Amino acid sequence: MDHFGYRQDRLYAEEVPLSAIAERVGTPCYVYSHATLERHYRVFDEAFGDWPHHICFAVKANGNLAVLQVLERLGAGFDIVSGGELARVLAAGGRASNVVFSGVGKSSDEIAKALTAGVRILSIESGEELERVNAVALSLGHKAPIGIRINPDVDPNTHPYIATGLRENKFGVPAADAPELYRKASAMAGIEVVGIGCHIGSQLTEIAPFCDAVERVLDVVDTLAQDDIRLSHLDLGGGVGIRYSDETPPDPKDYVQAILAILKRRNCDLAVTLEPGRAIAGNAGVLLSSVEYIKSGPEKDFVIVDAAMNDLLRPALYQAWHEVVRADRGPDRKMLTCDVVGPVCETGDFIARDRQLAVAPGDLVVVRSVGAYGFVMASNYNTRPRPAEVMVDGDQLYVVREREQTADLFSAETLLP
Ligand code: LLP
Repeated sequence: MDHFGYRQDRLYAEEVPLSAIAERVGTPCYVYSHATLERHYRVFDEAFGDWPHHICFAVKANGNLAVLQVLERLGAGFDIVSGGELARVLAAGGRASNVVFSGVGKSSDEIAKALTAGVRILSIESGEELERVNAVALSLGHKAPIGIRINPDVDPNTHPYIATGLRENKFGVPAADAPELYRKASAMAGIEVVGIGCHIGSQLTEIAPFCDAVERVLDVVDTLAQDDIRLSHLDLGGGVGIRYSDETPPDPKDYVQAILAILKRRNCDLAVTLEPGRAIAGNAGVLLSSVEYIKSGPEKDFVIVDAAMNDLLRPALYQAWHEVVRADRGPDRKMLTCDVVGPVCETGDFIARDRQLAVAPGDLVVVRSVGAYGFVMASNYNTRPRPAEVMVDGDQLYVVREREQTADLFSAETLLP
């Protein structure tokens, strides 16, 4: 459920017509709905009832400070994958003690910053990384709280680029190797073993792979208990999918219930961390774009808009499908069978392909479900300034990131003498 909807013929974000935002802020422009972010966060949070849990929003999905602030105020923690994301969380008012740090390639500098800030847990993805975290912690006189990320070898049935829990993926440690690594970690002076986790992929539309992964991680927990290695945290990552078109992703409530049922059956009372990104932010954001031209081709028509693959990469990178609609429905337009494309000089630069759309130059179109992995993946390719970002809260709108200016794009560059 999101808070974007038509009233008569105008598409609104909460109480604000999207066309009014475009008039004020220009296009292309990302628009987020405060109420939608809140609603999606609460569904996860409330599903746990009394079970000890942390909902750590995956900052990689949307790192805008205002988005993080909204979630922080609701009590969210954060899942980060870089020193940059840690800095964002702190700048947004987040507390390091609510942060989990994931990722296969943490630098010594990033580890040191995370330990100094006091993050709750570092997720360890290899023996080499464990050695490094131990060394950095010792050099700082700290004990690093860690959990090992298990690669449970489960097929998440998603796009291959965003499947992470298969043997052949770069992520995590095979379950069979984990006990040995835990024994090593327990003996290290700079390490405090607190947790275990996994993250098997993103945009999962079924519950079963999550359940298989939990069972496999709990097998490791049981093995560790025999060695008297006791943990307190179970981190199950993110991955719950959203509806872009006709997918039927699990309701987060059902997903949480399924996880808790397994934990109860297996007499496991670990606190659970989830790291949802897309399920919280995906349908809380849209991209506004103006139609520049309609170009008739010999095969099909092209609706050329002012947003491009640099603003929204998902269609080009994953052949992702995003709904494209007109912001204001009247007046009548001729129905086109078309590709919606941007101005970037690549055939891969498309927002949508083979659509039926009734638009004319000057119309405002709305690309839906882009609140996650939208702006964060934007680039300046073709020296295009990145879009503005706006947060709507009821009838208020806030520009939470100004549109970049062209001169900013090369202000850090220098000419040769
Ligand atoms: N935790 C970890 C360790 C992750 O690697 C990810 C996502 C998440 C949590 C959040 O997953 P979510 O709940 O959002 O599915 N750019 C791609 C998605 C990449 C996801 C990477 N990892 C896309 O646009 O589909």
